[in-house]
This record gives sequence, structure tokens and C-alpha cells, in this order.
Amino acid sequence: MSDTMTVTVTGAAGNIGYAALFRIAAGDMLGEGIRVKLRLLDLPGAVRAAEGTAMEIEDGAFALLDSLDVYDDARAAFDGTDIALLIGSRPRSKGMERADLLSANGAIFQEQGRAIADVASDRVRVLVVGNPANTNALVAAENAPGVPGERFTALTRLDHNRAIAQLGKHTGAAARDISRVTIWGNHSATQYPDIFHARVGDRAGADIAQDRDWLENDFVPTVARRGTAIIEARGSSSAASAANAAIDHVHDWVLGTPDGDWTSVALRSHGEYGVPEGLVCSFPATSDGGDWKVVEGLDLGEFARARIDASVAELVAERDAVRELGFA
Ligand code: LMR
Repeated sequence: MSDTMTVTVTGAAGNIGYAALFRIAAGDMLGEGIRVKLRLLDLPGAVRAAEGTAMEIEDGAFALLDSLDVYDDARAAFDGTDIALLIGSRPRSKGMERADLLSANGAIFQEQGRAIADVASDRVRVLVVGNPANTNALVAAENAPGVPGERFTALTRLDHNRAIAQLGKHTGAAARDISRVTIWGNHSATQYPDIFHARVGDRAGADIAQDRDWLENDFVPTVARRGTAIIEARGSSSAASAANAAIDHVHDWVLGTPDGDWTSVALRSHGEYGVPEGLVCSFPATSDGGDWKVVEGLDLGEFARARIDASVAELVAERDAVRELGFA
């Protein structure tokens, strides 16, 4: 790994960007040994705000920060980039149908996939945060010829961290004592947070899952609908927790997952666990600092299988919709 990396953040003027950029500059994402060249990308109308954020980052006098630039042009922003955090996306507005949302975002991620393929570094790693994240990542990947499919990922680490937090609250365990939780499927309310293979201190997750009422009526819906609950409470979607999860995701991808644990990553399927090839689906995954590797061979019971199948069916429908629109 080189000792300087170029990081491009899209939607840089938004709330998630604001929460992520300072921590990236401080070394939380790539570690203390890596210097960072930061590129902030946003729409022309948001560039002024992104420049304001850049002024604040400058004022942090971060020791690891080598350069800081603001762009409204994707090709310039992705030129030579090693890590692309695709945070900016078109949110659903009033009266917008699902097809309109997929269409608006399809255009954005098609353009960004092409730009990444044309100008990014050979070792580029991409994390899509902007919703619908899994399908946006699929569109970007399909429009990036020459970039290996496994370099395109979408964020389910936020759901993974939410699952750890809820499991910790239920059992009284600290987050540090919880491992091997998995998020399967889509970053949406159909996702399946799975604790059957988890470890909570010296307890097996399967043992905790015996409390079926808690599992089915509390844990699973609380994790799957947490994003909506936050929007209802804050009046806007999660920002600092999403930024934190994006940083965790890239940190573990570049520096490796801890021994004996795994995390959750939405990755292009090679058919693992019967998920159709090419879908960007959340799986349990490890990294040795190079590529993500899906943890294979986990036993899935009927309860898990039905939920995973439902979430995968939603991903198939999203993929078919963007194909129909000509984006993939
Ligand atoms: C979240 O999980 O917090 C967000 O993806 C929710 C949203 O729709 O923005």
C-alpha cells in the first residue's frame, strides 16, 4: 500500500460528507501511516457550500492531509483516485415514483461509473452510500469497463453496526464483545440482519435467537427500519452514523478485518448462497487488506432463507428496472 492515497468524496457539501471528511483527514479511515489527498465533488449549485467545508477542513491543520480540492466535474474529481466514496445521490422527493428515483440515480451513477473507468487509479475502490445504494453500485459497475466488479461495493456496514448495537442493548454486552453478525440482501427494509452465527462474549447468537418474539418482532424490524426511524426523529436521514459506517467499511477493506470476525458488505454476487450473479447483495465478508472475500459455508435455516430470498427478489426487481431504463 502506498503511503499517499487520493480519496474522492461525492455529495461533499451534504451532511454525510460533512461528518465524514474531517475524520478522513484525521486518519480514521486509512490509518495514521497514510497521507491523504482529498477531493470534494458536488453539483455546481452546491460547490460554494463544499468550498465552505473545505475552508473548515483547512482550518483543522491535519498532519496527514497533503492536498484538498473542490470540483463540480466528475472526471476531474476522479482523476487518479484510489478511493471513491459515492455519497451524493438524488433523494426521493414528494410525488416521485420508484421508477423516477431509479432513473434519476441511474443517470448519476452511469456517468460516475464511466468517469471512474476512464480516469481513476488502477487500484480504485468504490463505496456507494447514496440510495438506492446496492443498485446504484450495480449501475456504476456495469458502466465501468475494465474495472474489476469486486471494486464496486455498497454500504451495509451501517445496518451491521445497528445490528451490533441492538444485540448489545438486548444482552447487555459491549459492542467490542460482539462478532460475526451479518446483514444479508438490500440496504432497505427487506434486509435480513442475522445473528444465528454471531458470538456475544462466550454466548452463541443462535442461543440468543431462541427468544423468537424478540428476534422477529423487535430485533429484525428495529434494525431494518432504523433509517426510517431516524428520519422521523431528526427530520433528515442519518448522517454521522452513515459517515462512521462508510469509514469503517473502507478502513476494514484497506487495512483488513479483525481475526475471527467478519463484517457485512454489499458486493457483486458470484452466485454465493444462491444469489443471482452480478447483483450487488450484502454478504458476510472478510478482507486481508486486498479484496473482499465472502464468508462461505454458513448454514441458513428456513427463517433466514425466506428473508434473504425476499430481499434478493427486491434487488432483482431494481436491477430489472435499471436495465429497462438502459442504465445497466
Ligand atoms: C439509513 O439507513 O439511515 C438511510 O439509508 C435511510 C434513507 O432512506 O436515507
